Amino acid sequence: MDLKSAFANVLKSQVLSSWTEEDLLVLIETPKHVHLGDLAFPCFKLAKEYRKAPGAIAEELAGKLASPLFSKVEAAGPYVNVHFDSAAAGKEIVDSILQQGEHYGKHSFGSGKTVVLDMSSPNIAKPFSMGHLRSTVIGNGIANLAETCGYKTVKINYIGDWGTQFGKLIVAFKKWGDEEKVKENPIAELFTLYKKFHEEAALHPSLEEEGRKAFKLLEDGDVEITRLWKWFKTESLEAFKTIYSLLGVEFDSYNGEAFFNDKMDEVVKLLEEKQLLETSQGAKVVRMEDETLPPCLIKKTDGATLYATRDLAAAIYRQREYSFEEALYVVGQEQTVHFKQVKGVLDKLGYEWAHNMKHIPFGLYLKDGKKMSTRKGRVILLEEVLQEANTMARKNIKKKNPDLKDADQVARDVGVGAVLFHDLKNDRLNDIEFSLEQMLTFEGETGPYLQYTHARAQSILRKAGASKPSTFEGLEDKASWEVIKQLRLFPETVERAWRNYAPSILAKYLLELAKSFNSYYGNTKIINDDSKQDSRLTLVYSVASVLSTGLGILGIGAPEEM
Ligand code: ARG
Repeated sequence: MDLKSAFANVLKSQVLSSWTEEDLLVLIETPKHVHLGDLAFPCFKLAKEYRKAPGAIAEELAGKLASPLFSKVEAAGPYVNVHFDSAAAGKEIVDSILQQGEHYGKHSFGSGKTVVLDMSSPNIAKPFSMGHLRSTVIGNGIANLAETCGYKTVKINYIGDWGTQFGKLIVAFKKWGDEEKVKENPIAELFTLYKKFHEEAALHPSLEEEGRKAFKLLEDGDVEITRLWKWFKTESLEAFKTIYSLLGVEFDSYNGEAFFNDKMDEVVKLLEEKQLLETSQGAKVVRMEDETLPPCLIKKTDGATLYATRDLAAAIYRQREYSFEEALYVVGQEQTVHFKQVKGVLDKLGYEWAHNMKHIPFGLYLKDGKKMSTRKGRVILLEEVLQEANTMARKNIKKKNPDLKDADQVARDVGVGAVLFHDLKNDRLNDIEFSLEQMLTFEGETGPYLQYTHARAQSILRKAGASKPSTFEGLEDKASWEVIKQLRLFPETVERAWRNYAPSILAKYLLELAKSFNSYYGNTKIINDDSKQDSRLTLVYSVASVLSTGLGILGIGAPEEM
């Protein structure tokens, strides 16, 4: 049993029977300061019921609560604070890790429910930006957290493969394109054409009109234009898939914007039936003054649909297809208004489930304090970043462990781990200054630091010939207790990270765990052939296990050896 439940259990025996263990459990907190104890129970709610002062209740309870797991129980104002007995509580914690193995940290409250994640979603014929990287890795982290909490997940890559920009691209290709060049280097070449279109359109505004017309033809199924569009799409997807395989991310669906081309009429009809559509300067819009939002554009003057129209159709489709408990849109902060509009319109249509749609925004990567925009060409190619990270990792391995088996795989794990963790340790809403140097640092608070810590633990176990130890008699020293206290926090950290859609919570936790372990390791002779050796090895094993599970949730590999 975990110690919070143990505490709730002891509390239950001392309060009115109308209180369930669950009622008590949700109230239990971790005190702000370590010296106050390991867990705290605030007495405000009980006090109301007993019509007594919270402080008096706390005093009374503190006198009555006892368990071999506690070394001290005391009242501090309205709180009952509990200090664990390090030997007894430590054994309880480590034993549960031993029993549960890789299941330690898992929850079941999500079971039977589905979370749909809209993530990554790059635009074809454009580079995969750092923003798409953030969406991919944060989305993947959140999906893994959801699964660890028991949910089924559906990861959808809502590819940006529809919209006026494809009209423009097609016009540009017809005017200036070269089939061979595109085949050689599709994304870069198509992107160059796209940029050229904008340069030329600044001088010849009639080009814009041509672009719009070409998109309309695409929407209407023109054979030649559709062929070009399909080709651009195939080439782009192939390039994106290279990145996904480097990152180790997989999707359950690649239904992008174009998939909804034949599903938008229904939305427009529904909006008409509910008399939500208004004509404004020839365009069809849903007014959203009541929500203090700008009108949501549904159809342009020429009848062409918009980004919002497709998102409406996609949301309805996803609800039907997956009956989601939650639909998360892991998309940059700059699209906040768009998602408010989409939710708002679905709400007007009477869909209750619109409340279960959540935009999970994140900040930008900045270059010298400025946004890296694709339009202006201030982009950094992710593939290059990953390649560079890989090369650095390889150099490191050559220096530290020239005979390493699987060096290729390890270099990949470490390189990708560096890039991913650099992102995931930040609160997602923060902007991050793009620095290749920072990204590729392997010391300090980095992914490779966690991977090294894990590999170090594994190497101790190998040396002792104890790949999976199974006994823990308890350890009394302070340093091991610090490690065990961190291990205890893993399951609740996973839950908190999920509830906040914040992989960074888990990332920061893993750093704390690694720090406590490294300081333990620095001061203790683990292999020392005494009666405590097995317990120490078991502790090492527990740390390795939690580090590897935790890194796995973040989408980062944990090599056995580095
Ligand atoms: N393709 C869009 C972009 O790159 C992101 C799509 C986000 N998802 C959505 N359902 N709108 O900006």
